[in-house]
This record gives sequence, C-alpha cells and structure tokens, in this order.
Amino acid sequence: MSHFLPVALQHASRLLNHGPVILITSQDPQSQRRNVMAAAWSTPVEFTPPRIAIVVDKATWSRELIESSGTFGICVPAAAFVDLTYAVGSMSGRDKDKFEALNIQAIRGRELGVPLLEASCVAWLECRLLPETEAQQDYDTLFGEVVSAAADSRVFYDGRWHFDANNRDLHTLHHLGGGQFVTVANTLTAKAVI
Ligand SMILES: Cc1cc2nc3c(=O)[nH]c(=O)nc-3n(C[C@H](O)[C@H](O)[C@H](O)COP(=O)(O)O)c2cc1C
Repeated sequence: MSHFLPVALQHASRLLNHGPVILITSQDPQSQRRNVMAAAWSTPVEFTPPRIAIVVDKATWSRELIESSGTFGICVPAAAFVDLTYAVGSMSGRDKDKFEALNIQAIRGRELGVPLLEASCVAWLECRLLPETEAQQDYDTLFGEVVSAAADSRVFYDGRWHFDANNRDLHTLHHLGGGQFVTVANTLTAKAVI
C-alpha cells in the first residue's frame, strides 16, 4: 500500500531543500522506453511557481530523453534504496533497461506521464523542462518547473520532513562520493536567541 499523499506546490521546494540524492526519471517520447539515473546535484531555485535546477551530464542518455520529451521526474530515494541508487548511477540506460535489470517498479505521473518510483522512494516531483538557457548550452544545468509533487506521509507532513530514530529506513540519502552515503542523523530545532 502506498503512503504517498500530494504535496502542495508551495511546499515542493522543501522536498529538495536539504540536498538529498535524487533519481531523475525520463521517457523516450517515440519508443516510450524509460530511464532513471542518480544525481547528487540539484536545488530549488524559485518558490512560485516552484522551479528547480538539476545538473545532467550531456553524455548521459537521460539528458537526451529529457531534452527530446521536455519532461522529467525527480524521485527521492530512501536509505533502504541505497544499493539501487548507486546502481542506476553506475550504468547507462543506453546499454541496459534499468527498470528491467533491477526490477524497479514505476507508476505514470498523472500530469506529465513521467515514470515515478514510490516503492523505496519517499517523494517525487513531476517537472516540465523550461526553455533552453545559455547555461544549458555551455554547462550541464537544466531548469524545470514542478507541476505536481507527492511524498510519503509517514515522514513528510505539515509541509516538512520529520526524520527521527524510528524511521531510519525512510531517511533520505546524501552522497559523499565513491558509493559512500550518509543519512541525516540528528534533528536540531533552532530556538529564538533574542
Ligand atoms: C550517487 C551518484 C550521484 C550522481 N550525480 C550525478 C549528477 O548530479 N549529475 C550527473 O550528470 N550525473 C550524476 N551521476 C552519474 C549518473 O547517474 C550516471 O552517469 C548514469 O549512468 C547516467 O545514466 P544514463 O546514461 O542512463 O542517463 C551520479 C551517480 C551517482 C552514483
């Protein structure tokens, strides 16, 4: 059973605000072949409408699919998905269908039809690629507008994440490099100082 509930677009930036590793999904508009890659580099850039930046190497198959379809999905993997996260970031969909090879289940986004992973992920965002910028020609940065979002209601509610010692498998992943990851260990609540 899915624990996912819609996230209001005004809170979509909170899903990525703390810098988790993400999985970027895409689909070939002609053949409908799906793809998924890992990405450590992404950030919210605007609140309303919610817009985000992702860095996708021009050599990846994902880049080609995102540019030809004009859409992509962002899924935030949970700690329990660490091996698959690393695996989808270590092979190209040009060589192998990662969904088949790794037995990854996906649903179709209601707004844009992009593949979205709920099993073992704790959030997803459907994004429309924004018109090409100079940054996109010279660098690897792509900008997207979030058109729908959802998150696992066990760890994301009241517009923010709630990570604690009782839900460690559902914590997000942060990449240190070379297949080493950390999860968010301690939660601190800031108190007013004046
Ligand atoms: C943890 C992790 C983080 C990564 N971060 C990025 C990233 O931010 N941008 C990028 O272009 N590639 C990144 N990669 C590499 C891509 O996921 C990798 O090139 C992938 O094989 C591309 O797949 P594709 O050709 O099927 O699109 C990362 C890989 C890993 C394992």
